[in-house]
Amino acid sequence: MNRLLRTNAFRLAALYLLLFVASVLALLAFIYFSTAGFIERQTEATIDAEITGLREEYGERGLSGLLDIIHTRSTAPAPHGDSTLYLVTDPALQPLAGNLSAWPRAEQIRPGWIRFPVEVRTRQGTVTSSAIASVFVLHDGFRLLVGRDLRDAEAFRSRITRTLAWAALLTVALGVGGGLFMTRHMLSRVEAVNRTSERIIRGDLSQRVPLSGSGDEFDQLAANLNAMLDQIERLMLGMRQVTDNIAHDLRTPLSRLRARLEVTLLERPDAQRYADALRETIAEADHLLGTFNALLSIAEAEAGSRRETMAVVDLAEIARSVAELYEPVADDKGLSLTVESDALIAVHGDRHLLSQAIANLLDNALKYTPAGKVALRAHRQGGTARIEVADSGPGVPADRREAVFDRFVRLEGSRSTPGNGLGLSLVRAVARLHGGDAWLEDNEPGLKAMFTLPVADSRIVPATRNAA
Ligand SMILES: Nc1ncnc2c1ncn2[C@@H]1O[C@H](COP(=O)(O)OP(=O)(O)O)[C@@H](O)[C@H]1O
Ligand SMILES: [Mg+2]
Repeated sequence: MNRLLRTNAFRLAALYLLLFVASVLALLAFIYFSTAGFIERQTEATIDAEITGLREEYGERGLSGLLDIIHTRSTAPAPHGDSTLYLVTDPALQPLAGNLSAWPRAEQIRPGWIRFPVEVRTRQGTVTSSAIASVFVLHDGFRLLVGRDLRDAEAFRSRITRTLAWAALLTVALGVGGGLFMTRHMLSRVEAVNRTSERIIRGDLSQRVPLSGSGDEFDQLAANLNAMLDQIERLMLGMRQVTDNIAHDLRTPLSRLRARLEVTLLERPDAQRYADALRETIAEADHLLGTFNALLSIAEAEAGSRRETMAVVDLAEIARSVAELYEPVADDKGLSLTVESDALIAVHGDRHLLSQAIANLLDNALKYTPAGKVALRAHRQGGTARIEVADSGPGVPADRREAVFDRFVRLEGSRSTPGNGLGLSLVRAVARLHGGDAWLEDNEPGLKAMFTLPVADSRIVPATRNAA
């Protein structure tokens, strides 16, 4: 309860309640004054009409005529219990006619309205009630008083007062109850979000905010939070996998490197041997750096962090310039390297990653093909750009063509060639980053490795390499 009082929702509800009660009370007060006042005004109007009538009689028939009428009227039984009060007095305020035994208020003898208590006979006996009357001065100081007792008006007024008081009480009760209920209801939804986030903060990222199923704003908030958590969890899993793999793959070569240095130290000092060991160590460190860089590139491509810096580039031009770099390698091995490409293939992408993917495919083809030919093709088919590297080497058995895309997977026969088993993983990660895919096919004989990505809007002209 204490906590409830401190919440914003409760404060808002209380403020709202206050405004609500104030406006209802103002409305009730307005009703009270206009109805209660209406009855009073009506009574006054009735008295006024009566006096006007009597004054006319007086004007026509004089004092004796007026006394006659007053006498008749005050002795006649009142039609429905509500009695009109009459009194005519001489200048000394001595009663001459009427149903009042004496002038009610000696201090009020001027023309105008007076209020006074009267004894009224009812079936239950005599009761005191208040009355209102108008005084009219006749010629020679004679006075005429016409009034009405206010029993009915007062009964009506007290009934209105009671009714309005109940209405006010009910309004406040409903307002407080409703406010508390709504606050509780809202708070319970906010509480659910709070509880979930606390559990997540304590380390359980698998927690999700429960949905009520109503599809309201709270459900939308919960759904968005959950989607955000899913995304974070996915990214974290990806990160963890990358770090696990890096740690796993770097530990073995690092231990090997350390062991070799240790053994060299234990042996008899020999300049030649030391130089050899250092050279081997440098080669191994280079290999480690290569693995490290490859893993980082894959992680980068998979995380999509380079998506923001992508631009429209010419894939055909990238393919030709990568092939140019590999020409010396092909020449050294006595392999023929041919390049076929469309004049221009505009794609929306990352030049560096695309170059690396093509380089990895060319590297594999040149590395694993002992003799023969390698062909690089860059073509556009409809809305798809396709890079294809075909060789005449040993190929990859059909049942291993998916597995080699996994990190660190190398086939049995390839262990003697340098490599880290990350090349194809990067090709696939880059292709998927660009909205395409990578796969292997049989080249009969040899292997056809390829990847695709969607072409960019052809109206956009790619930046040239020098400008990029
Ligand atoms: N053109 C190819 N011909 C034959 N085998 C290949 C070819 N390309 C890839 N492979 C096989 O797939 C494995 C994974 O390739 P990759 O991911 O590039 O790693 P790496 O080249 O470092 O070994 C290679 O070890 C090799 O066994
Ligand atoms: Mg490779």
